[in-house]
Amino acid sequence: VTFEPKVGVVGCGLMGSEIAQVCAAWGLDVVVVEADSESLKAGQGRVEASLAQAVRRGKLSEEAEASARAGIRFATDAEILADRVLVVEAVPEIAALKVDTFRRIDAVVQDADAVLASNTSSVPIIELARATGRPDRVIGIHFFNPVPVLPLIEIVPSLMTAPEVVDAATDFASKTLGKNVIRSADRAGFIVNGLLIPYLLSAIRMLESAVATADDIDAGMVHGCAHPMGPLALADLIGLDTVAAIAESMYEEFKEPLYAPPPLLRRMVSAGLLGRKVGRGFHQYP
Ligand SMILES: NC(=O)c1ccc[n+]([C@@H]2O[C@H](COP(=O)([O-])OP(=O)(O)OC[C@H]3O[C@@H](n4cnc5c(N)ncnc54)[C@H](O)[C@@H]3O)[C@@H](O)[C@H]2O)c1
Repeated sequence: VTFEPKVGVVGCGLMGSEIAQVCAAWGLDVVVVEADSESLKAGQGRVEASLAQAVRRGKLSEEAEASARAGIRFATDAEILADRVLVVEAVPEIAALKVDTFRRIDAVVQDADAVLASNTSSVPIIELARATGRPDRVIGIHFFNPVPVLPLIEIVPSLMTAPEVVDAATDFASKTLGKNVIRSADRAGFIVNGLLIPYLLSAIRMLESAVATADDIDAGMVHGCAHPMGPLALADLIGLDTVAAIAESMYEEFKEPLYAPPPLLRRMVSAGLLGRKVGRGFHQYP
């Protein structure tokens, strides 16, 4: 394993909490940075819930859970990232916020060889790299939701990423975390969202034009194509704000009409109906 086990995770929402959980479950020393104390508390709750679920699913022993808990520290001050050799950024999919976050990470991380990674789904890695004084150390490490369950990581070098950083990130994903790795060029959506997002948006357009109900659209793909869940349930799982943001970036990049977020998706986001994380999206989650 190429990495000293000192990982920093910035942003502890849906993804950051699970990335932190998985790293800690593999015995890594993890620090988590959140925006403010309220979000930090919520993030800590998500990490603990995710660890508890891993125990319930028989994936983690109770001793391992206890040592994983002890292996994670939480802070609102980015200074805690100073000694990290790998930082994974997982703040919301807003380019300006990510650029600003990379500027802050670059300012505090001391090891010049540290790898600065983003879990972005669609913001160009090169834009994040250029916010730092070390663009060759910046790379995309894109996890899939739910992180403890899905065995894939996309590795996304920018045009400036050093080959040894690509190797280190690949080793971290495959050897340290035991995930399957695929590599994508730095294009909005990468491989999986490049295929998935237009499919999810097509399902939303189908609902919007009253072809069928949300339940029937989802049942069609579950029972007709053996997908584990339908497209609208999957959009709810990802978070409709995140789906809309990824679609916007992909549309911005390619100007492909299939990538443009349909009005219903925008209205759902404006209404705060963001999917499973708030209890209601295309479906209800009591
Ligand atoms: N949701 C998914 O299925 C999924 C899958 C793969 C990748 N991603 C990507 O992961 C990233 C995070 O998505 P998410 O679904 O976890 O979003 P989320 O909204 O659940 O979590 C984002 C977290 O970042 C925190 N945050 C905001 N500003 C911050 C700052 N300045 N410093 C530290 N923390 C800050 C927020 O408080 C929040 O807890 C996005 O780039 C998204 O595209 C999401």
